[in-house]
Amino acid sequence: MVKPKSENLTWHAGTVTTDQRASLLGHEAACLWFTGLSGSGKSTLTRALEAALVERGVNAYVLDGDNVRMGLNGDLGFAPADRAENIRRIGEVARLFADSGALVLTAFISPYRADRDRVRELLGVGATPRFIEVFVNPGLDVCEERDPKGLYARARSGEIAQFTGISAPYEAPLSPEIDVDTGALSVEESVEAVIAWLVNHRVIT
Ligand code: ADX
Repeated sequence: MVKPKSENLTWHAGTVTTDQRASLLGHEAACLWFTGLSGSGKSTLTRALEAALVERGVNAYVLDGDNVRMGLNGDLGFAPADRAENIRRIGEVARLFADSGALVLTAFISPYRADRDRVRELLGVGATPRFIEVFVNPGLDVCEERDPKGLYARARSGEIAQFTGISAPYEAPLSPEIDVDTGALSVEESVEAVIAWLVNHRVIT
């Protein structure tokens, strides 16, 4: 946690417990942290997963990179410090969602391992996993081939600077809880793979 600028703050803990919220909602609270290159399929997968989970009665909600950058993080760019701040803020928001009992799905490139690990620490560990790192990993060539927003072409021509995978680094997770090759699996198969993991680990039933 960063040291707040303001002084004289007191943390107020509520009396509603995590177990109470879980029994109300019928599933555990957690953050499914999707990480991967632009064009890897994070947004597509999280949206399909969100719909499948809600269909099963799970209170799932997606925080998406582009959407959040249009609002809450509209003041941030793509320099390493801005990306770190982007992920820090999302981590705090994800923690609030998880504290409310939700299953929050985050879809950000989140290229730096240290930034992701800080969020893992912030979410903490519980009886069931609270931070579940999902590596969306079709490989750079597939992402560049897809190039859904035409950004790779613009990054290759030098029009976009510090573009992840081309002119800025992407640090792959070393031991993600879930690894999804969206190059080999269909969207439906990817959704099934994540849901199977959640059921096996008793996050949902
Ligand atoms: S992160 O690196 O800070 O985690 P985030 O997921 O919020 O990135 O935003 C990534 C999205 O911003 C991409 O999907 C793409 O649409 C857009 N974008 C614009 N410029 C860049 C850039 N230089 N590098 C990566 N993504 C970029």
